[in-house]
Amino acid sequence: MARRRKPPVDQIVQADCVAELARMPDECFDMCFADPPYNLQLQGELHRPDRSRVNGVEDTWDQFDSMSAYDEFTAAWMSEVKRALKPNGTLWVIGTYHNIYRVGKVLQDLGFWILNDVTWVKKNPMPNFRGVRFTNATESLIWAVRDQERKDYTFNYALMKERNEGKQMRSDWRFNLCTGNERIKDCDGQKVHSTQKPEALDRGRVQETRATLRWDRD
Ligand SMILES: C[S@@+](CC[C@H](N)C(=O)[O-])C[C@H]1O[C@@H](n2cnc3c(N)ncnc32)[C@H](O)[C@@H]1O
Repeated sequence: MARRRKPPVDQIVQADCVAELARMPDECFDMCFADPPYNLQLQGELHRPDRSRVNGVEDTWDQFDSMSAYDEFTAAWMSEVKRALKPNGTLWVIGTYHNIYRVGKVLQDLGFWILNDVTWVKKNPMPNFRGVRFTNATESLIWAVRDQERKDYTFNYALMKERNEGKQMRSDWRFNLCTGNERIKDCDGQKVHSTQKPEALDRGRVQETRATLRWDRD
């Protein structure tokens, strides 16, 4: 497949990520943020104590035949990300306990160097309806640089500290799930996407590790 001479700018491309990334030039991106399928492997329906059904993540995009099929998918998109990232570029990837450890193994096997693992503490998590486990109130984000020896990745330390009342930004981030007006709904009031993330995830933190407009745009 012919590679694009330049990556698209300010565009949302809806396509298979592995095929589309394969069209990107080598070493063209400063940062990649990935929110891949969780591979939840749900077994049966989940109900609330009032018997109403919980709309979980039952989408076909989250279904893989096996753990190794999920690992292969992860290695496919992540290898393309690695090729398309600049040597000092960074990868953010978010996941839950279902997938983040597998994703982390692939990431390390490919030679990425982990800079932080961040915990998103959900201030309004969904309860554990059956009362058989702890309330699952966190997700994890891995932040990794492409090449271990590169120390010149983007990290706007001073700006984040200033915004954080003079304190260093920590690796535990506390904010709500995506609810209310932020949650995109269809005309029947149903969620358009089962796993929409809140804007707070990006705002003021992830975006401060992104060097925008640094491609050669001549
Ligand atoms: C966890 S969800 C991401 C949710 C998104 N961050 C949001 O806030 O709405 C995972 C997404 O990966 C997409 N996906 C799965 N396989 C894909 C593929 N091969 N190429 C592109 N996207 C894919 C699914 O369609 C799904 O929307």
